[in-house]
Amino acid sequence: MVNQGSPQAGNNLDPWYHHYAARAAGLKASEVRALFAVASRPEVVSLAGGMPYVAALPQDLVIDAMDRVMREKGATALQYGSGQGVPLLREQILDVMALEGIKANADDVVVTTGSQHALELVSKLFLDPGDVVISEGPSYVTSMVIFKSYQAEVDHVPMDENGLIPAALIEHITALKAAGRTIKFLYTIPSFHNPAGVTLSWQRRLEILEICRSNNILVLEDNPYGLLYFDKPAPDAIRSLERDGVVYLGTFSKTLAPGFRVGWALAPHAIREKLVLANEAAVLSPSSFTQMVISEYLSTADWKGQINTFRGVYQERKNAMLDALNEYLPDLSWTNPTGGFYVWVTLPEQLDSKAMLPRAVKELVAYTPGTAFYADGNGRQSMRLAFCYPTPDNIRTGIRRLATVIRGELDLLDTFAGTGSLGAAAERPGPGDQRYVGPPANIS
Ligand SMILES: Cc1ncc(COP(=O)(O)O)c(C=O)c1O
Repeated sequence: MVNQGSPQAGNNLDPWYHHYAARAAGLKASEVRALFAVASRPEVVSLAGGMPYVAALPQDLVIDAMDRVMREKGATALQYGSGQGVPLLREQILDVMALEGIKANADDVVVTTGSQHALELVSKLFLDPGDVVISEGPSYVTSMVIFKSYQAEVDHVPMDENGLIPAALIEHITALKAAGRTIKFLYTIPSFHNPAGVTLSWQRRLEILEICRSNNILVLEDNPYGLLYFDKPAPDAIRSLERDGVVYLGTFSKTLAPGFRVGWALAPHAIREKLVLANEAAVLSPSSFTQMVISEYLSTADWKGQINTFRGVYQERKNAMLDALNEYLPDLSWTNPTGGFYVWVTLPEQLDSKAMLPRAVKELVAYTPGTAFYADGNGRQSMRLAFCYPTPDNIRTGIRRLATVIRGELDLLDTFAGTGSLGAAAERPGPGDQRYVGPPANIS
């Protein structure tokens, strides 16, 4: 019922409740959001948030770049700019993408306010109510918030340790077509997947592209983590294989810092034109200041060396996490990421990661339950652990606490149902137990 004009038309909590557009129904706070507010207390080890460890970036490099921009080009930096982005930065973005095999023209790059904003713009251009987006299952939380806000449905295709499974993709496309559904694009995170931590093999990149080509499905390739590999680079981007059927998203959030809010889309020419118009409609122009600071940084600093430093930091943390999992929770299974920020853990069948989270937070450790990464309620038997932010010592403490929680849950189930047990060593808090200053509540 829409009761025109009066706030009385709403409810006790929100007088405007009945005035929202239908698409606003897709904008729901995550069920675990409130808990994450608690999890941001300093004594909690948070393995939940995917926040880059920006402390590994020497601040002087940024301060110098900001200083030069303001002294030499201050008037331009503080002004509105082009809706497509600063031309020099767009040229430099080509050098970044070349590291993953992409050959492109700066004219096809659109700078956005983080790649999140590029996802929003692409969705705005393509999604009508009832459309289907195919994505990996599990997938990036906030992509699904966007797709749902455009009243599209997410259809999850399963992955294994080599990423999205081509045969399963074919099955899903066939079933969706048979049901008369409109598939608008495949949203994929091929390298160092968030949250699954797996990487799509080269062979599968070829196969998946071919499947999409032959079914006339656009590929939306989201690649925030591709340059953050540990021992060897990920296979080249899908976009390196195909120009016309792929919209590629990149960002400086993980290789530099998310506070700049600078990302980009590389799109086939016609889509690029519409993206610029959508960008202008949304923000007029992305921040000239932060684009110019990044451009200055790329021109003057050893940015590739800095990415190497980040790689070292994250590899050490990943090793700390896997070592701790092996020690404290050897009966569980988990993915072994070769880059990026995340490990995907599979729990014993009888456990429910979402139901267990309050108890984990009580034990001073937080994780993201698997259900956050599915549009269809799946994922209870899984959790995402992020190793990017806490120190190796705190990661160890966090996993030790997690083992206590899991063991407690299994003991409880044993008591009531006579099932399940973990032989693993669990936490026995000792004097060396460290208190950790955690990041603010956030799941990204
Ligand atoms: C897969 C994926 N895509 C997009 C984003 C958004 O990144 P940003 O908007 O900071 O570029 C993130 C952030 O965590 C992510 O993990």
